[in-house]
Amino acid sequence: MSEERLYPPSPEFAAHAQVKSLAEYRDLCERSARNPTEFWGELAERELHWFHKWSSVLDWQAPDARWFVGGKTNASYNCLDRHLETARKNKVAILWEGEPGDQRMISYQELHRLVCRFANVLKSRGLKTGDRAVIYMPMLPELPIALLACARLGIIHSVVFGGFAAEALKTRIQDLDAQVVITADGGWRRGKEVKLKPVVDEALIDCPSVQNVIVLNRTGSEVAMESGRDHWWHELHEGVDEKCPAEMLDSEHPLFVLYTSGTTGKPKGIVHTTGGYMLQATMTMKWIFDLREEDTYWCTADVGWVTGHSYIVYGPLSAGATAVMYEGAPDFPQPDRFWRLIEKYRITILYTSPTAIRSFVRQGDQWPNGHDMSSLRLLGSVGEPINPAAWEWYYKVIGGSRCPIVDTWWQTETGAIMIAPMPGAIAAKPGSGTLPLPGVQAEIVDLKGNPVETGREGFLIIRNPWPSMFRTLWRDPQRYVENYWSRIPGVYMTGDAARQDNDGYFWVLGRVDDVMNVSGHRLSTMEIESALVRHPAVAEAAVVGKPHEITGQSVVCFVTLKKGNYDQQQLGDELRKWVAKEIGSFARPEQIRFTDALPKTRSGKIMRRLLREIVTSNHVAGDVTTLEDLSVLTSLAAQHDED
Ligand code: WT7
Repeated sequence: MSEERLYPPSPEFAAHAQVKSLAEYRDLCERSARNPTEFWGELAERELHWFHKWSSVLDWQAPDARWFVGGKTNASYNCLDRHLETARKNKVAILWEGEPGDQRMISYQELHRLVCRFANVLKSRGLKTGDRAVIYMPMLPELPIALLACARLGIIHSVVFGGFAAEALKTRIQDLDAQVVITADGGWRRGKEVKLKPVVDEALIDCPSVQNVIVLNRTGSEVAMESGRDHWWHELHEGVDEKCPAEMLDSEHPLFVLYTSGTTGKPKGIVHTTGGYMLQATMTMKWIFDLREEDTYWCTADVGWVTGHSYIVYGPLSAGATAVMYEGAPDFPQPDRFWRLIEKYRITILYTSPTAIRSFVRQGDQWPNGHDMSSLRLLGSVGEPINPAAWEWYYKVIGGSRCPIVDTWWQTETGAIMIAPMPGAIAAKPGSGTLPLPGVQAEIVDLKGNPVETGREGFLIIRNPWPSMFRTLWRDPQRYVENYWSRIPGVYMTGDAARQDNDGYFWVLGRVDDVMNVSGHRLSTMEIESALVRHPAVAEAAVVGKPHEITGQSVVCFVTLKKGNYDQQQLGDELRKWVAKEIGSFARPEQIRFTDALPKTRSGKIMRRLLREIVTSNHVAGDVTTLEDLSVLTSLAAQHDED
C-alpha cells in the first residue's frame, strides 16, 4: 500500500466545505474528547427535533449504553415533518428511477403524505408500537415509505435484502416473531423479473406469528394471495386518512433490527435505537458527505444493507437532501447505466462500493467517458478496503481529478461512518480511511488491549461509546457481550485488523474472524457450512474466502462426502445452486472442492487458516473435479495442535 501520495482537497472545495481545515477538524475532536456529553448534547439539540428534552445525555454501564435518556423523539418526524415548515417542503426528497426507465420524483410534502397514509394502513391492520415488521422489497420508493411508516408508529422494522432466499428470510421472521411482512410481487433486474412473493410464501410455511402480508404491485405478474393473510398494498390504501401524527417515542426505542453474519451459523440481529442513531446518521451526512442544500446525492447501496438504512433513508432525509434511488443493475441495459443517471440528473455526490468500481474498471473507460459527469463534486466508497489502483481510477476517470474521495469505514454495528476523511479538511491517501470522526476513539491494540507500535498490525477497537452504536443483539444479550466486549473488557472489538501509519492514518486490512467479505457483503463461513451439511450427500464442509479481483473475496468450499457414488462435476454444480437457494444468490460459491478429509486440530476444530493458505497460494493444486488429499495437512495439523 503506497503511503506517499497525498490528495489534499482543493482550496475551492475546502473554502465551501462544512469543515474547512485540519485545524477545524482537530478542534471538533478535541472538544468531543474533553467533554463528550456536552459535545453530543449540543449537537442533538441543534440537529434533531425533540418532543421532550432528555434528562441526561449518556448513561454508560459498559457495555450497555443509553443515549439522551428520557428524551422523546421520532425518526420519521425528523426525516419529514420538520422540513414541512421550511423551503424544503417542495424539494425532491426521493428521486427514483426504475430499471425499465420509469421515474418518480417525490417531494418532502408528498413523501410525508405517503408515509402517513401507509402508517394508517399499518394501524388498520392492528399493528402498534413495539411490534415487528419484516420488509422484503425491491428498491422502490415504497421501501423507504415502509421504513418511515414503521418508524412513525414505533414498529420495529427489519429489512431483509431481496437477494436472500426463503430459508434465510424464514429464520429472520422467526427470530423476530414478526407480525407483518411487507413485500412486492417482484422487481426488475437485468431486464428480468426477480420474484419476491413466492419466496415469502415459502418462508411463511413455518412462521405462525405473521398475520398480515402486504404486497405491493410492481411487476404485475401473477401471484398467489392467501385470503385473510395477504393484502394488496393499493387496496389497503382505499379511503385511508392522510393525517397520522408521529408517536413521541423514547430516544432508546428500537428503530430497527438488521441481521448480519457473525462467526456462527446463526445471524446476529443488530439492534439500533432512535435518538443516538439519528444524530450520528445526520451528522455524518454533513461532515463526510459535506451536504449542501443544492446537492443531488446518490448512494448506490440497497436499503437491505445498513448502508441503505443510514445513507439512503435516515441520514439524507433527516439532513433534508435529495436522495437518488435506482432499482436495477449497474450494467443494464449497458455498462454505462450509472454514468447515464449521473449525467441525466446532474448528480453531485456519488457513494458506491469498491466491488462496483473494480467491475467498471474492467468494462473500460469508454463507458464513463461517453458521459458528461461534470456535476460530480464528491465521491465515496464503502464496504471493504479499496485498492489504490481502483481508487486512482475512481478519482481520475469518474471524478475528473476534481472530486475528493471519502473512503468510509464503518459496520452494521456502528450505525454510522466512524473512520473517513472530512473532505474539506483531510488529505486522502488511496486505500486509507484516514482519521476517526469527532467523538470516535479508534485505536489499534494487541490482545491485551495495549496500543501497538505505529506501523504494526493489530486489532481495531473503539474505546468509548458513541451515539449510533448498536445496543444489543436481538434476544441474545449474552452474545452481545461475549462477541464484542469480552476479549478486552469494556472495549468494542470491531473484528477488523488494521494498522496506523506515521500520520496516524488508519489502514483497515480485513477481518480477523471467520467472516468473509464478498462484494462488500458480509458472509459467515459457518453459515455456508451449515447450509452445505444440510445437503444429503455432504458429510462435512469447510468454507474460506479466496482473494478475488472484482468481488474482493470469493467463496471456496471444501467438502467431504458421505459414502456413495457421485458425479463430482454434477454434484459440484448442484451444491453451488444449493447454497444460493439456502442463503441467497450473492452467497453462491465460486468453487466446490471435494476432499477425503479436512485438516483439523486434535480437538476436532477445522483449521480454516490452512485452507485459506491453500486457496490463496494454491499450494495444493486441484480443480472442482479432483478429489484432494488433505490428509497430509491433517496429520501436520495434529502435530501442531492449535486451539
Ligand atoms: C465490515 C462491515 C458499513 C457498510 C457496509 C458493510 C468492512 C466496510 C470498509 C472500508 C475497509 C471496510 C470491514 C467491516 N469494511 N467498509 N471503507 N474499508 N473495510 O457493513 O456488512 O457490517 O461489514 O466491512 O471489514 O468490519 P457490514
